[in-house]
Amino acid sequence: MRMKLFEKGLPERAVLRKLESELKEDFTYDSGRILGSMCTSPHEFARHVYMKSLEKNLGDPGLFCAATQLEREAIGMLGSLLSHPNAYGHIVSGGTEANILALWAARNLAKNRQREVLVPVSAHCSFDKAANLLGLKLIKVKLNDRFQMNIKEAEKAVTENTVAIVGVAGTTGLGVVDPVNELSEIALDHDIFLHIDAAFGGFVLPFLEELGSNVPDFDFRVPGVCSVTVDPHKMGLAPIPAGGILFRNEEMMRSISTNVPYLAGGGTDHTTILGTRSGASAVAVWGLLMHLGRQGYRGVVGRCMRLTSKLVEGIRRINGVNLKTRPTLNIVGITSNEFDIELVAEELRRMGWAVSLFPSYIRVVIMPHVEPSHIQHFLQDLKETVEKLRG
Ligand SMILES: Cc1ncc(COP(=O)(O)O)c(C=O)c1O
Repeated sequence: MRMKLFEKGLPERAVLRKLESELKEDFTYDSGRILGSMCTSPHEFARHVYMKSLEKNLGDPGLFCAATQLEREAIGMLGSLLSHPNAYGHIVSGGTEANILALWAARNLAKNRQREVLVPVSAHCSFDKAANLLGLKLIKVKLNDRFQMNIKEAEKAVTENTVAIVGVAGTTGLGVVDPVNELSEIALDHDIFLHIDAAFGGFVLPFLEELGSNVPDFDFRVPGVCSVTVDPHKMGLAPIPAGGILFRNEEMMRSISTNVPYLAGGGTDHTTILGTRSGASAVAVWGLLMHLGRQGYRGVVGRCMRLTSKLVEGIRRINGVNLKTRPTLNIVGITSNEFDIELVAEELRRMGWAVSLFPSYIRVVIMPHVEPSHIQHFLQDLKETVEKLRG
């Protein structure tokens, strides 16, 4: 229904009542039904900090120099998580904006080249958006049998026109980590910008490593890595919007700089897409990183991985479905040799489960809002679905 703006407004209570009834149809995280999203219910403390900073505008850093300093500190903490405490960057609107900023910088730094970017076919569609906006041509590189970017294919695809290579640390579909060391060698050999999309994995892999797992190199430890996307509004438990872009050095970030002369706080250079942008997001990320620390996030990641193992064991016990691959992160792909997986997804959705459907598998993401009882319930419904389809 289209609404028109009333001449005289309604009392707050009436609007709130209406709002409550209007929003009833949305899924909620605490229902346990959202098993296909990389977002989650924001941490209570981050909500609290966010609300305290609603009026902060990081687009005008002269007015909000204290909030701007906290953004810098948040970037420092994210940098230290990713082996580079002196990284430059911003808390942005999400992984999409972060990936666009990275390719924007790569394009501007590679002045004389024609504009090709190598991405694995598993890369997030934000790279399609980035390519479209920036006039770049994406070269989609095939995967190996472990669903990682195929290094031989990547090597073959490099030309004098290549301005960037993208590796993913925690793919959207299966949570796979690309071979970043090998990509780095190619990038350094050919003097090409290497961006790592760790929008999801950036808040999981470092803690998995601290918990004793064997984690492949993916961050600034790898010498060729120029920039990394890492999203606090995914496994970082921060309120939306909160993405993160980190650059290895200031020159890379400055390559996308635009001067904004008119601001009340004094002229400045922006190195983001947005002008006016949320200080509350950055301050909430700062507050939450300070509050949870490494220990807090290790707890979150450890719990999600234990629940992921429970889901994996359950799937193995259901005849008719199987795992697409052994999960590296808290992302599970469910496939079937017996049924059309689209029909399985359709039936699960009909039963009220919000799962994601990829071309040959269903994706389940075990985010912090997921409880053991939700997994148990989901496995029962999955088993029932398979039995029903078998007839
Ligand atoms: C690996 C990866 N990169 C980038 C994005 C885009 O993030 P956002 O939706 O925050 O823009 C996603 C989203 O799921 C993702 O999985």
